[in-house]
Amino acid sequence: MRLAPSLLAADLADLASAVSACEAGGAELIHVDVMDGHFVPNLSFGIPVLEAIRRRTELPLDVHLMVANPQRLLSDYLAAGADWVSVHWEVSTHLDRLLQTIRDAGARAGVVVNPATPVEMLVDVLEGVDYVLLMSVNPGFAGQRFLPHSLEKAVRLRTMLEQRQLEVQIEMDGGIGRSNIRSVVEAGVDICVAGSAVFGQGDPAAAMRDLKDRAGRSA
Ligand code: DX5
Ligand code: ZN
Repeated sequence: MRLAPSLLAADLADLASAVSACEAGGAELIHVDVMDGHFVPNLSFGIPVLEAIRRRTELPLDVHLMVANPQRLLSDYLAAGADWVSVHWEVSTHLDRLLQTIRDAGARAGVVVNPATPVEMLVDVLEGVDYVLLMSVNPGFAGQRFLPHSLEKAVRLRTMLEQRQLEVQIEMDGGIGRSNIRSVVEAGVDICVAGSAVFGQGDPAAAMRDLKDRAGRSA
């Protein structure tokens, strides 16, 4: 299991410390939530912010684009230093092209599905992605309750991947914490995003280590 702390839940006036905590806590990725106030009601990290984070760390930056028009913003986020980029299935009219654009830039390409979108909708893009991000809350805010049917979606996706013998990673995002991270990993999730469970605690680095221990450190 790889842990991707979500900066959305950090002290936004002190992102440098949050990034240092990710390094100290053994995070494998840093999850950066980009929100445009249209696809989701909230607004968050713009391109200069991503550039600033990029200058602070060598950890891979996992950019989750919660924007209504990913086609318009994609190239700028890639140029700003994103290593992994995921676009939402629900707003990607030309999804295959977007995924190819990400890969052509040398980044890892991901597709995200909302809680109400069946994983079966991904059947024709699985060969063009490096990872699938399953939302386990409705996107927009940190600190929401985990939606339990997400576990079954991960199991179904894992079966689809195994049937096609594809090396696609499964990431899950939303409501993951100490009490459920083990079951998330057991459902077949490779990468766990955690916001509040990391940055809502007094010592984020210790919280990361605790989450990794509870997940079983299987990889
Ligand atoms: C929600 C974001 C998440 C969020 C996770 O829309 O995509 O990455 O920060 O936060 P928690 O772990 O608190 O649900
Ligand atoms: Zn996210």
